[in-house]
Amino acid sequence: MTKTTDFIPQEYTQKLTEKGSFQWSAPSNIALVKYWGKKENQIPANPSISFTLNNCKTITKLEFEPKKSTSKDFAFDLFLDGKPKEDFKPKMQKFFERIEVYLPFLKDYHFTISTENTFPHSSGIASSASGMGAMAVNFMSIEKLFNPEMTEEYFWQKASFLARLGSGSACRSIKGSVVVWGETESIENSSDLFGVEFLETIHPNFQNYQDTILLVDKGEKVVSSTVGHELMHNHPFAQQRFEQAHDNLARMKQILTDGNLQKFVELVESEALTLHAMMMTSMPYFILMKPNTLEIINKIWKYRQQTDIQVCFTLDAGANVHILYPNNSKDKVLQFIKNELIVYCQNQQYICDEIGIGSFKLN
Ligand code: DP6
Repeated sequence: MTKTTDFIPQEYTQKLTEKGSFQWSAPSNIALVKYWGKKENQIPANPSISFTLNNCKTITKLEFEPKKSTSKDFAFDLFLDGKPKEDFKPKMQKFFERIEVYLPFLKDYHFTISTENTFPHSSGIASSASGMGAMAVNFMSIEKLFNPEMTEEYFWQKASFLARLGSGSACRSIKGSVVVWGETESIENSSDLFGVEFLETIHPNFQNYQDTILLVDKGEKVVSSTVGHELMHNHPFAQQRFEQAHDNLARMKQILTDGNLQKFVELVESEALTLHAMMMTSMPYFILMKPNTLEIINKIWKYRQQTDIQVCFTLDAGANVHILYPNNSKDKVLQFIKNELIVYCQNQQYICDEIGIGSFKLN
């Protein structure tokens, strides 16, 4: 079994005195069984499984050059869409602190991080998963210069491991198309330390599965995910919820292999509502859904009943709605979305996405 200490490198075989840069694209992901609650060091309280997305992604260029000064601090500049982004720096600083022991070269270089998202800025879509994912693979490209002998497996596992330390769900944004994070009996080689690719043969029903994201509310969330996770400590239903997530993961494994869309819909919607039920029953309690979130959910239920098309919704920690549906119903569902749902979106905004293949290096 892989341990945390396996990611602390031995002496590097190569020295790196030149400056250089890498650029990676990393996607967002949408959880089907949700991660909610964590232990120390970003260890999840329960396992989760997600579809990796294709269009919503972060592209990050990481430039590095040997530091000229002898300062003992991390040295980096951070740009979003070409402009300095000071308010992202504390989160990045924390990320550097958490990963330093695994990347001992961090304090020897000055980094310039230039990042952009393909989805509209402040759309309420979390960019932390794709953003931290993109940072992690860039860092692994640098580490490979120090240690050219590293295996592919080590590269990808450690990338996910590092991403997790930036944001839990980011560890599911390295690979595609379905990723499991968190040790659980039904998934061989699953780990709390990093995401693993779901290796069973996925039923053709899920090929090019669609995710249309309805932007219901783009405002700042009333409670951040980090605080939400905290509130699972001493939560009256936490234990049952964590157990349920293991059961639901085993059920999802079966569904993804046998292609039962009816069961998929039922499980995905139940997971989304359970996540929000946890928020509503925390102390203090809070609600992230908006009236339009509920309008959309009701419309989806009605449409499904009328048409027998297996379209369903899921939610992240926010008011936006992800609509999941099979590729062969795409035209009809998009028509339904345009006719009936975009009135509930802020500025009628929505994003069409689908299941994707994970992060990749750009030239
Ligand atoms: C509701 O990964 O954003 O989207 O680890 O504190 O960065 P941190 O939390 P984060 O939590 C995501 C929670 C979720 C469910 C999920 O993606 O599994």
